[in-house]
Amino acid sequence: MTTDQAEEIALLEAEATAALEGALDLAALEESERAAFRSKRSRFAEMYQALGSKEPEERRVVGRLLNELRGRLEAVAEARRAELTAAARAERLGADRLDLTEVLPGRLAGHLHLVTQVREALEDVFIGMGYEIAEGPEVETGWRNFEALNIPEDHPARSPLDTFYVDFGKPWSVLLRPHTSPVQIRLLERGTLPIYAVVPGRTYRKDTPDSTHLPVFHQIEALVVDRGVTFADLKGTIDTFVRAIFGEGTRTRLRPAYFPFTEPSAEFEMSCVICGGEGCRTCSGVGWIELGGCGMVHPAVFEATGVDPEQWSGFAFGFGIDRIAIMRHGIADLRVMIENDVRFLGQF
Ligand code: PHE
Repeated sequence: MTTDQAEEIALLEAEATAALEGALDLAALEESERAAFRSKRSRFAEMYQALGSKEPEERRVVGRLLNELRGRLEAVAEARRAELTAAARAERLGADRLDLTEVLPGRLAGHLHLVTQVREALEDVFIGMGYEIAEGPEVETGWRNFEALNIPEDHPARSPLDTFYVDFGKPWSVLLRPHTSPVQIRLLERGTLPIYAVVPGRTYRKDTPDSTHLPVFHQIEALVVDRGVTFADLKGTIDTFVRAIFGEGTRTRLRPAYFPFTEPSAEFEMSCVICGGEGCRTCSGVGWIELGGCGMVHPAVFEATGVDPEQWSGFAFGFGIDRIAIMRHGIADLRVMIENDVRFLGQF
C-alpha cells in the first residue's frame, strides 16, 4: 500500500464523517451516505473497483482497510439517523400540542366551566367551616336512594317517569341518582361520627330542558350529625353559606315543607339578588328565590344505618349548583350552561 492510498482513505473518512454528522434532516443524511460510500460513482466505490487491477497483497490490505472504513461510516450514519428521528418526533409532538393557557389575540384562554367554579366556591365556604368534601357514585342502588331515605313504595319520585333506571340486577333496583341524598346513607354507613360533610355531584331526572330545568344537573348536599345538633344550627349554616356566596346583605328564610328523610322539613329561600327583596321578574314579584330543601335527619334514616337517634341528631340540606350559578351571575336561562357557546363561557 502506498502512502498516497493511506492518505486518500484518511481524507475520505474525514470528509464523509463530517458530511454524515452535519446532515440536517433524514433526506440530507441519505444523500450524504450515497455520496460517501453507497453510490457506484462515490470515491469509495472507485477505490474499491481500482483494487481489481492491483497485486493480490495490496488488494488484501487496502480491501480490508476499505471494508473497515465502510463499517465505521455506517455506524456514524446510524447514530445520526437516530438523532434526526428523535428530533423530528419531538418537533411533531410540539406542533400537535395545544396550549390552553396561552391567550392568542382573538382567542380565549381555557378555564374551568362556570358550574365547576361555583362548585369550588361552595366547597371553599364549607371547608372554611370545617366540613369534609365527600362523593358518591352517580349510579346508585334503589335502597340507598329510596328505602334507606324513608321514601315509601308509592312515592312519585320512584316512578320511571321521573327517574332513570339502569338495566342491572333486579328490575327497578339500580338507577341514576335523582338527588345527592343517597350519599347521606353512604356517610352514615361508614359508622364514624360525628359527620360534617358536603357532597357535590351530578344528578339526573327525566325533566324536559327549559329555562330552570336540565335532565342532567348538579346538586350539593350537606350532612351534619353530632350530639345536640338543633334546627337553629341548620338555619345558621344556611344563612352563613348564602351570605358567603351572595354577599352579606342577602337574607334567608325557611318555609314548611315535606321530605320523607327529614323531620321537620323546610324549603329554604334567599332574598332576590336582583331586586333585594322588592319583587322583580327574576323572583316573580315575591322578593324570594327558592334554593333547596332541608330539615333534621329523620330517625328512620338513623335506624336504617344503625345510628342511635337517642344519642345523635343532625341536619341535612341539598340544592342545585347550576341554579346557584345562574342566580349569582344573573343568567336568565339554565340551558346556556350546556350549549358550549364560547361567547357565553368566555364571560366567566
Ligand atoms: N334531596 C332533596 C331534593 O333533591 C333535597 C333535600 C336534601 C331535602 C336534604 C332535605 C334534606 O329535592
